[in-house]
Amino acid sequence: MPGYDVIIIGGGPGGYVCAIRCSQLGLKVACVEGRGKLGGTCLNVGCIPSKALLHASELYHESVTNFKKLGIKINKPQVDWNQMQSHKNDVITQNTQGIEFLFKKNKVDYIKGWGKIKNSNEVIVNEKSYSTKNIIIATGSEPASLPNMNIDEKQIVSSTGALELKKIPKSLLVIGAGVIGLEMGSVYSRLGSEVTVIEYLDEVTPGLDKETAKTFRKILTKQGIKFLLGAAVTSLEKVSNGIKASYTDNKTSEKKEFITDIVLVATGRKPFSQGLDLEENGIKVTDKGQISINKKWQTNIANIYALGDVVEGPMLAHKAEDEGMAVAEIIAGQAGHVNFEVIPGVIYTTPEVASVGKTEEELKVLGKKYKVGKFSFIGNGRAKANLVTDGFVKIISDYKSDRILGAHIIGPAAGDLIHEICVAMEFGASAEDLARTCHAHPTFSEAVREAALALGGGAIHS
Ligand code: NAI
Repeated sequence: MPGYDVIIIGGGPGGYVCAIRCSQLGLKVACVEGRGKLGGTCLNVGCIPSKALLHASELYHESVTNFKKLGIKINKPQVDWNQMQSHKNDVITQNTQGIEFLFKKNKVDYIKGWGKIKNSNEVIVNEKSYSTKNIIIATGSEPASLPNMNIDEKQIVSSTGALELKKIPKSLLVIGAGVIGLEMGSVYSRLGSEVTVIEYLDEVTPGLDKETAKTFRKILTKQGIKFLLGAAVTSLEKVSNGIKASYTDNKTSEKKEFITDIVLVATGRKPFSQGLDLEENGIKVTDKGQISINKKWQTNIANIYALGDVVEGPMLAHKAEDEGMAVAEIIAGQAGHVNFEVIPGVIYTTPEVASVGKTEEELKVLGKKYKVGKFSFIGNGRAKANLVTDGFVKIISDYKSDRILGAHIIGPAAGDLIHEICVAMEFGASAEDLARTCHAHPTFSEAVREAALALGGGAIHS
C-alpha cells in the first residue's frame, strides 16, 4: 500500500505551492528538496533576492537624482554594499523559513535530499525509498550558458553569481537584453557600474510589445545603460585587465572585442531534470529538454506529472504556482485549470514593465482586427507629483467587440497595475467595462482607465 498520495520532487514555487494545495485538499503529501532550503530558484537565487537589490538600488538612485527636487537635503548618500547583501540574505532566510513553517502548518512532509524516480510508485532520497500513488516533477530550470563561456560565478557570472558579487564592478558587460540582463544591469548601473548590454536581436526584451520594448530601451539608455544590438557574443576569455568578450556584428559580420571587469551571461534558462532517471523510467522529454506533458500535466506515465520551468511555457514563478494548484486539484478529482492566455509578465526595473495577453505583432500575424488605446503617465497627476512620468499604458481590444486582448504598461507600479486588466480579461471584459469602473483619484491606476477611455469616447487628460 503506497505511503503517500503524492510525492513532489522540487520545493520551488511550483512544487511547494502544489504540496500545500494537495494537503488542503486532503491528500497525504511529501515534498523532496535537495538545495537545503525551500523556495527554489525564485526565493534563493532569483525573484526575491533580485528584488531586494532592485529596491535598495532604486532608493539609492532616487536619493541621488530626485531628493533635491523634492526638497529633501541630505549629505551625499553612499552605498554600503555589504549591508545591501546582508539585507538581501535576511530576506531570503525569512522567505525560505516561511515556507518551512507553512509546510508544518499544512502537514506537508519535507524530505531533504535529491530525489530520484525508481518507478512510478517509488521515489528514492538518500538511498531510502518512499512509496506513493502519484509523483510530481517540479525540478525547475538552470542558467543556459553558451559554448566558449565558462561561468565561474566570480568574473563570468550567471544570475546566481550576479546577486553576490564581492564588490560593485567598475564595468559590467551583460550578454542578453532579456529580463535577467536588464534587471541585474539596472541594479549595477544605479550603483555606479558602467553597464553595457550586448543583444543578438535588434531590440531588447524579445517577445515584448515592440513599441513598449523601444520605449523601455530609450528610458534605460537615458539612465546610462549602453546597448549594442544586433551583435552576437561568441567567446569570453580571461585577460590581465579583466575579461575579453569577442562579438560579431550581425549586419556587417565585423568581429569586435570588448574588455570588462565582470560579465553577466543572461542568455536564457534551460529545464533542470538531472539525476531524476527520466530515461531509465521511459519518461519522454522534448528536443528542448522539457518533460513532455498532456493538458492535465501528465507525462507519458499517467501517475507521474510535471509542471513549472521543467515543462513548456513561460519560465515564470507564478505560472509554476498556478500549475501546482491545478495539478493538486486534478489529483484530488477536481477540474484544475490554468488560463495560459492571461499570464502576466513583469520586469522589475524602474520604470517597471508589465504585459499580459497579445501584442500588436502577434495579432497582426493572427490577422485579427484590433484597436489600441494609449495613455502616457505624463497626463497622470500622481505620476507628476512623484516625478515618475516616463511611460504609458496601452490596451489592445477587439476592433468589433471591444473585448480586451492584451495590455502593455511601462511606468510606475506597472507590475501591480497590470492585474486589474488580468481580472478584466478573465471575466471577458471589454475596454468599456474598465473605462466605466470608478478609479480613485489620484492614483497611477487612473492611467489604466484613461487608456481604456481612449479606446472609446477618448481619454480626459491627454
Ligand atoms: P531571455 O530569454 O529573457 O533573454 C535572453 C537574451 O539573450 C535574448 O534576448 C537573446 O536574444 C540573447 N542572446 C542569446 N545569445 C546571445 C549571444 N550570444 N549574444 C548576445 N545576445 C544573446 O533570458 P533571461 O533574461 O536569461 O531569463 C531567463 C528566464 O528567466 C526567462 O524565461 C525569464 O522570463 C525568467 N525570468 C523572469 C523574471 C521576471 O519575471 N521578472 C526575472 C528573471 C528571470
